[in-house]
Amino acid sequence: MSTLLLPADPVTIAQAVDLLARGDVVALPTETVYGLAADALNANAVAKIFEAKERPFFDPLIVHLPDREWLDRLTQIPPDAASLVEKLCEKFWPGPLTLVLPRRPPVPDIVSAGLPTVAVRMSSHAVLRAVLDQFGKPLAAPSANRFGRISPTAAEHVMTELHGRIPLILDGGPTLHGVESTILAIDGGRMRILRNGPVTREDLAPFGEVPDAARGEKPQAPGQLESHYAPRTPMQLVKSAAAFQPAPGQRCGLLAWSSPRTVAPFSKIEVLSERADLREAATRLFAAMRRLDEAGLDLIVAEEVPETGLGCAIMDRLRKAAARG
Ligand code: TXA
Ligand code: MG
Repeated sequence: MSTLLLPADPVTIAQAVDLLARGDVVALPTETVYGLAADALNANAVAKIFEAKERPFFDPLIVHLPDREWLDRLTQIPPDAASLVEKLCEKFWPGPLTLVLPRRPPVPDIVSAGLPTVAVRMSSHAVLRAVLDQFGKPLAAPSANRFGRISPTAAEHVMTELHGRIPLILDGGPTLHGVESTILAIDGGRMRILRNGPVTREDLAPFGEVPDAARGEKPQAPGQLESHYAPRTPMQLVKSAAAFQPAPGQRCGLLAWSSPRTVAPFSKIEVLSERADLREAATRLFAAMRRLDEAGLDLIVAEEVPETGLGCAIMDRLRKAAARG
């Protein structure tokens, strides 16, 4: 199969909708990372997502809703969670917040990997919104990378990951946030963060207590598995690169948080944010990891970022990228 990469415009959006209606998959931009979409209510179409990504069937997908009404069609919001869900949707949708809620029958088992819940969100990206409007039904869309690899923040990354496996990639430019949506479970009317993302713990605090998913707990989201978002090159996380000494003959790259104080031992350097801005760092993270991964290095040395706000999402991705094997 040859893969077309086309700029998103009314003509190519109509082409995408046509493919989706025929039960095919299409890669699309969202405000977080690029997604690989298929008709969420068509199990055969959804199976093609798993096939293209080589994703194990135990890993459930996120469903993108055309509008708020679909939330009630696909989920059964428990009475004790209704007011919280209402407030969260009001505040954060459309936007990078995914809610895990009890699911209703129209959601095929394959979407939620047989779990009693389904993960839903409403994206703010104009291209995805246009596709959803015309398609008129929810789309299942996980990140458009092969399983366990770095999420794509640009259309070319999707091409690298999935060329020959999918018919169409719509190019909507680099994504706004750069890291995947925050995943929030709501049980017993209480919030629990399953994956840190652009909607931070601080953003959620006004809506109630937000305990983090306990470490060592059985993972509910593979985003919670120790090794994920992994470059092929080994990666090591350090407090500061200033003290780092490579082994003799070792070619090392540096993923620096802000302006690096040492450049000497590194053959390639990527800076996340010269001005030490977490938002900018998040948007650059995955592309920088990709460039370092493609540079033929023996080791990528990654500096820790401050663990506040969006820094929690960045540090999660760095820890998981560094935890290989
Ligand atoms: O920003 C995003 O969320 C992107 C864009 C494309 O929407 N999508 C994304 O999807 O990151 P994916 O499949 O790469 O990650 C979805 C995560 C997985 O780790 C999955 O296990 C979790 O959501 N998930 C899905 N359904 C779940 C459920 N019912 N309970 C717990 N976790 C769930
Ligand atoms: Mg993913």
